[in-house]
Amino acid sequence: MVFPTILIIFVIQFTQRYLKLAKKDIIILGIESSCDDTSASIIKNEAIYSNVIASQKIHEEYGGVVPELASRAHQQNILPVVDVAIKKANISISDIDAIAFTSGPGLLGSLIVGTSFAKAMALGLNIPIISVNHMHGHVLAHFIDDKDKEKPTFPFICLTVSGGHTQIVLVKDYLEMEVIGTTIDDAAGEAFDKSAKLLGLSYPGGPLIDKMAQSGNPNKYSFTKPKVTGYDYSFSGLKTNILQFLNREKKKDPDFIKNNINDICASIQKTIIDILFDKLIEAVEEHNINEVAIAGGVSANSELRARLVSEGKKREWKTHIPKFEYSTDNAAMIAIAGRYHFLKNDFAKQSISASSRLNI
Ligand code: KG4
Ligand code: ZN
Repeated sequence: MVFPTILIIFVIQFTQRYLKLAKKDIIILGIESSCDDTSASIIKNEAIYSNVIASQKIHEEYGGVVPELASRAHQQNILPVVDVAIKKANISISDIDAIAFTSGPGLLGSLIVGTSFAKAMALGLNIPIISVNHMHGHVLAHFIDDKDKEKPTFPFICLTVSGGHTQIVLVKDYLEMEVIGTTIDDAAGEAFDKSAKLLGLSYPGGPLIDKMAQSGNPNKYSFTKPKVTGYDYSFSGLKTNILQFLNREKKKDPDFIKNNINDICASIQKTIIDILFDKLIEAVEEHNINEVAIAGGVSANSELRARLVSEGKKREWKTHIPKFEYSTDNAAMIAIAGRYHFLKNDFAKQSISASSRLNI
């Protein structure tokens, strides 16, 4: 009797899974936990039903993300965040067809929380898991349904700028991407955050520099630009240059930073954006491509967005700027990236583990 019962259970489970894969609408739960944001999102096809993000304030006082604290906070946040995402989407847990999660790159302890949670939940629900590269997620956020925004067409070039990465990506298809330029040291987000730290601002400094720069003169101070070959970037020299500049000026006026904070922020921001665009323009023109996108946390920067629009007009590029909420880390972008893996039947095994270094 045992054998036929096992066989019947197997046939039922197989049929259930087959029917789910064959149905037209696909509902995916996305989970993101690569750095200091715990996020869960439900998407139906390319439409976002919910996108819940729990940010970790704890790192502010340390001037940067503390990996051990980040993974502990993810452990506390993940269950309530997923729960709220499902409730907000107004679906039942059994409607979920697959769980997509960030398997890398990022902080290992943080990635392990999302990866283990996704694996355990999928096992319980008997649904497949999808491993998503965080950097694919940033780029593919451009394919989230949005009535105010046209989706890019392939091939296009995406400048992906975050706290950990700075990449010029040649996007040939949803999951076919080539990094043609990258940073050889710090990322653009790090350049913002480290500069902010030198100015005594809290973490993350990027949004604070953006805000203060709005009332400053971007041409007041100038900083040296790196000389790197090809489409690669370097930002570590800028930090040293800013440090030396501040030390020099503080000798003359101890309140130099306080008295000139807006102009300093605007000048730093302009330098970072100039560096980014010099290489981006070269890459776009040499590849003869006229569709250009920006993605990642730094793409939330108001001046970077404005620069893409103005350069786009000047150079007849079709430009793509992600919605603010899909620029910084979020699970909606992981879910949408998961969708393209799903459509290719590209599922991960339960034996998968997170990896802090993962190439796109
Ligand atoms: O993509 P993201 O949320 O996380 C990573 O994958 O790293 O990017 C975070 C980075 C941080 O360095 C943060 O300072 C920067 O994005 N950032 C900004 C702005 N908003 C976030 N940088 C400049 N201006 C902003 N408005
Ligand atoms: Zn990111």
